[in-house]
Amino acid sequence: MITLRPEGTAGVVRAYVENGDYNRLSLCKFFYSGPMFRAEKPQRGRLRQFNQLGAEIFGSEDPYYDYEIISIVDSIAKSVGIENYSLLLNSIGCRECRVVYTDKLKDYYKERFEKLCDDCKKRLDTNPLRLLDCKKENCRTLRDGAPVISEHICGGCGDHFSKVKGYLDKSGIKYKLDNYLVRGLDYYTRTTFEFTADNLGSQNAFAGGGRYDYLVEQFDGKPTPGVGFAAGIERMFLITENNKFEESGVDAYIIHTGGETLSRAVDLSLELRKSGISVDLDPETKGFKAQFKKAERERASFFIIIGDDELSEGKAAVKNQKTGEQQKVSFDEVALFLAGEMQK
Ligand code: HAM
Repeated sequence: MITLRPEGTAGVVRAYVENGDYNRLSLCKFFYSGPMFRAEKPQRGRLRQFNQLGAEIFGSEDPYYDYEIISIVDSIAKSVGIENYSLLLNSIGCRECRVVYTDKLKDYYKERFEKLCDDCKKRLDTNPLRLLDCKKENCRTLRDGAPVISEHICGGCGDHFSKVKGYLDKSGIKYKLDNYLVRGLDYYTRTTFEFTADNLGSQNAFAGGGRYDYLVEQFDGKPTPGVGFAAGIERMFLITENNKFEESGVDAYIIHTGGETLSRAVDLSLELRKSGISVDLDPETKGFKAQFKKAERERASFFIIIGDDELSEGKAAVKNQKTGEQQKVSFDEVALFLAGEMQK
């Protein structure tokens, strides 16, 4: 028998518990990516095998970490070029306040039992919150009159949720409150969220997550709160498939005149590569003109010129190809200078 994992969170929790990580560090942050498997009816954006990348934070119930997780997804969305997206946000309370709410929810739905779909009839006893998540039309209509969770969460959960919203407001991340966002997995407590894109059709969530303060103890670990997210890589591809990406080249191309200047260029290239800046140079050509041509062909964002004058001054001439600006920068400051420029 083999088991195909449907998601990453449970596996990360198991690994955390098995390795006793809570004995080592009070706060742990993990990330992962890889194939996941779900027995779904395949359709656009809904696959049986798909890839997720995700992150989990264990060891604190501080609302800052809910914000931190959400802000990671927000920056991933921006960096991969997703333009029109929404963040849906909810709090589904803790085990104390949820009992009160789910009792009310059960009473409401029991009175309307015959109108529910077969799945929801079964879920009413096992996980009544999931009824709010049902996509069937009848269940959707019934939902409109159901009690709403935000009116039932306890003071502690209300305060936690206000602080999460406070952090998001402060950082300018916009969100829409969605009372019905309970999410498809059963382990959530307090914050739940989903990122949806306008051009994805019905499978419009490209990332989702939330807090799960009891999952570690369900795996026999020491009670440890957790919060995390996972993003669907194929869905992010679908959203951005028509985006026009600028073809980018190497970050910097170093132009030299041979001899000592080549030796300086090689040293600088090592230094820049260590800082994560991609660099190219041609050790065989000495002529400026030919090297400029090569740098252009490689679409380098910055040309770094080291001639005899530059060598004696201890400074390289750095030209930003986008703005056309050129300035002299001390050899040992070039990496820092480029890193700053590349942020702009
Ligand atoms: P999830 O919402 O089930 O959450 O999945 C996260 C993302 O994976 C979805 O937003 C979607 O982009 C992608 N995805 C899910 N199912 C499919 C599918 N059948 N085909 C293509 N893409 C899919 C989780 O998995 C939780 N583990 C997230 C989490 C981490 N919560 C706390 N920590």
